[in-house]
Amino acid sequence: MRWQGHLANSLKQTEHHITLAMTGASGAGYGLKLMRQLHAQGVHLHLLFSDAARIVLREECSLTLPEHVTAIPAALADFLPLASCERLHCYNLKDWFSPTASGSSGVRQMVIAPCSMGTLARIAQGISDNLIERSADVIIKEKGQLIIMPRETPLSAIHLQHMLTLAQLGVEIIPAMPGFYHRPASIDDLQRFMVERIIDHLHIPQSNALRWGSKP
Ligand SMILES: Cc1cc2nc3c(=O)[nH]c(=O)nc-3n(C[C@H](O)[C@H](O)[C@H](O)COP(=O)(O)O)c2cc1C
Repeated sequence: MRWQGHLANSLKQTEHHITLAMTGASGAGYGLKLMRQLHAQGVHLHLLFSDAARIVLREECSLTLPEHVTAIPAALADFLPLASCERLHCYNLKDWFSPTASGSSGVRQMVIAPCSMGTLARIAQGISDNLIERSADVIIKEKGQLIIMPRETPLSAIHLQHMLTLAQLGVEIIPAMPGFYHRPASIDDLQRFMVERIIDHLHIPQSNALRWGSKP
């Protein structure tokens, strides 16, 4: 039986649905830029924020997310800014009735950007204690596409082992490691490099992406 929850009717086959989770690693700007780009491409975004992500968003981006998830889409639309908050769907981390919590709902792509070592470890161990971990677990078991952007330095053997475990399960590890061959002049250029790599991996066409040999 297909998912009968509150968003069941919006998961139409003709729509492109992606789960985007932000966790408490540094680099919240990557997640926001990715969100803006995917929204501009017409994607339905299922947004998840860990408690630590909220702290990092405040520290690094001066963005304080509203406590209640129903108020988050409008706050994001204002902040980014987006033309509207349509196609932004937010859930709290214990909302086990959200579409992303079940394989039968049909959301088959998920990005975690940035991804903390804590969330990385819990996903690698199959711990589904919050909706971010559960959604990732669902994507892995359903053989969907999970892209993780880890951020930490230096990386310990524990971190590397968890990344290897996930990579061997087919998870795509795209670390927050922008290249410099396109001569970035700003933080925006660095973020753009990473965001465009992720969008390439999501198989979404982009006409103006920085490519090898191109300059911003
Ligand atoms: C400003 C700030 C930056 C942080 N940067 C990192 C980081 O780059 N990588 C990381 O793994 N943890 C980082 N942390 C620590 C995580 O937020 C912390 O381990 C948290 O428990 C992760 O929880 P989550 O996985 O539920 O988001 C940072 C915390 C703060 C407040």
